[in-house]
Amino acid sequence: MKTSLRTHTCGELSRKNDKQEVTLCGWVDSIRISGKIGFIDVRDRYGKTQLFLNKELAHEFRNINREDIIKIEGMVQARPANQVKEPGTGEIEIVAKKITLLKEVPELPMEIDEATAHSSEETRMKYRYLDLRKPRMQQNLLIRHKLLKAVRDFFDQESFLEVETPILAKTTPEGARDYIVPSRNFKGEFYALPQSPQTFKQLLMVSGFDRYVQIARCFRDEDLRADRQPEFTQMDVEMSFIDEEDIYALMERLMKYVFKEVLHRELKTPFPRMKYDDALKKYKSDKPDMRKEFNTDFAFLWITEFPMFEFSKEENRFVAMHHPFTSPNAEHIKFLHSDKAKVRSRAYDLVLNGFELGGGSIRIADEKLQQEVFDALGINEREARNKFGFLLDALRFAPPHGGIAFGIDRWAMLLIGADNIREVVAFPKNQEARDLMLDSPSKISEDKLQELGLFLFEE
Ligand code: AMO
Repeated sequence: MKTSLRTHTCGELSRKNDKQEVTLCGWVDSIRISGKIGFIDVRDRYGKTQLFLNKELAHEFRNINREDIIKIEGMVQARPANQVKEPGTGEIEIVAKKITLLKEVPELPMEIDEATAHSSEETRMKYRYLDLRKPRMQQNLLIRHKLLKAVRDFFDQESFLEVETPILAKTTPEGARDYIVPSRNFKGEFYALPQSPQTFKQLLMVSGFDRYVQIARCFRDEDLRADRQPEFTQMDVEMSFIDEEDIYALMERLMKYVFKEVLHRELKTPFPRMKYDDALKKYKSDKPDMRKEFNTDFAFLWITEFPMFEFSKEENRFVAMHHPFTSPNAEHIKFLHSDKAKVRSRAYDLVLNGFELGGGSIRIADEKLQQEVFDALGINEREARNKFGFLLDALRFAPPHGGIAFGIDRWAMLLIGADNIREVVAFPKNQEARDLMLDSPSKISEDKLQELGLFLFEE
C-alpha cells in the first residue's frame, strides 16, 4: 500500500518481490544486534517484516529501542526455502541500505508483546492507545469492522434504509437510568441520551420507511457487567407489515451471511425456538447456553412468548419485561388489568452461547391499546402524554410493525470468543463507568455550571 513515505506495508512483501527496492515504515518489534550484524523486526497493523542490518548499520542503530518508529530503504531478498517458517513476509527479508529514525520514543508505560505482557487492566485502559497496538486487539477491531460492514451490506441488499436518529433526545423506557444532558437555553430542562432508538424507529414506520436499519449508539446508566458498557452499539431494525416469522427468517439470513463473510463458516438455519416458560422450567434461565446439547461452537436459540410484565420488588409494581410498546398476545389482552402475570407478549430474544444477543417485539400499533398498557403499568394518562404524547399521537397513523435490535459489541465479542466486551470496544469505560484515559467524568468550572443553571449540593 503505497503512500508518500512508504512503498509497501510490513505485511505485504513475499518472494514475489525478490530483488525489489522498497521503503517500509513501522514500529520496531524486536531487535537482535550483535557486534557484526543485526536483525530488526518492523511491525505495522498488516504484519511484520525482518530487516537485515550490515555491520555499519548494526553499529549505528545498536541503541535502537522497541517501539521506536523507523523508515527503511532496502532491497527484498528471498530466504532459502529451508529457512522459510511462514508464507508471506516470512519468505523474505529486507537488506537495509538506509534506516531513518522517525521517532525515538521513551520507555513505554506498558508491554505490547503479549508473550511477556502482564499489565493490569487499569494500565491497559489508561494507555489504551498503546494497548490497541497489540496484534490481538488490532485483530479484534478488524473483526468488528468486518461485522459492521457485513451487516450494512446485507441490509442494503435487502432494501433497508439506514436512518440516523437523535442523540440529544428524551427518555426511552428500556428499563435503565437515563444519561441526562442539561440545556443552556432552557435552564432546568434536560435532554436524555437514548437508551435505544426505539421510539424514533416506530415513528419512521409511521413515515412509511417500512424497512429501517441503524447502527446506533445507545446509552444506559446501569450496573456494568462483562457484557455491558454504559454506551454501546446496536444494530437496530424495524419493519412494517410483518409478523414474528418475518423477523426470524430475516435475522437467520443475516446471521448466515455475517458468519460466512466474517468467519467463513456455514450456519444451519432455522434456529431452534423455545418458549420462555419452558426455558425457565428446563434451564432456570431465559438465555440457556445450548453448546453442549446442540454440539456446536455457536448455539443459537430463539426464546419466544415472554411475559408482558414482571414484578419489580424495588418499585413494588409491575414493569414491562421488554418495553411498554410491545404487543400483548391478542387472547391475553383481557387479562391486562385482572391477571398481569398471565399475560404473554409478542416479544422474542435471540440467544447465542448463553448471551442475550438481541431482542425485539411486534409493537402495539393502536393508541388506545397503548394507553391501556400504560395504565396497566401504572403510568396514568397525564404522565403518558407528558412522556410519550408524540408517540400516542403518531400511533393514530401507524401501520402494523415490529422489530429487533442486536448488541454489536456482544456480537463481536462472541465472534472472537472473548469474555468481555471491552475487548471489542476501542475506548471502553471501566467497571465504574469511568474512562481512565480521558479521566472522565470530570468536574466542570463554576462558570459553566452557572451558564447551565446548575447548582451543586455537597453530599
Ligand atoms: P434491548 O434492551 O433488549 O432491546 O437491547 C437489545 C440488545 O442490545 C444489547 N445491549 C447492550 N450491550 C452492551 N451494553 C449494554 N449496556 C447493553 N444493553 C443492551 C444486548 C441486547 O440484547 N429497543 C429494543 C429493541 C427492540 O425492541 O427492537 C432494545 O433496545 O445485546
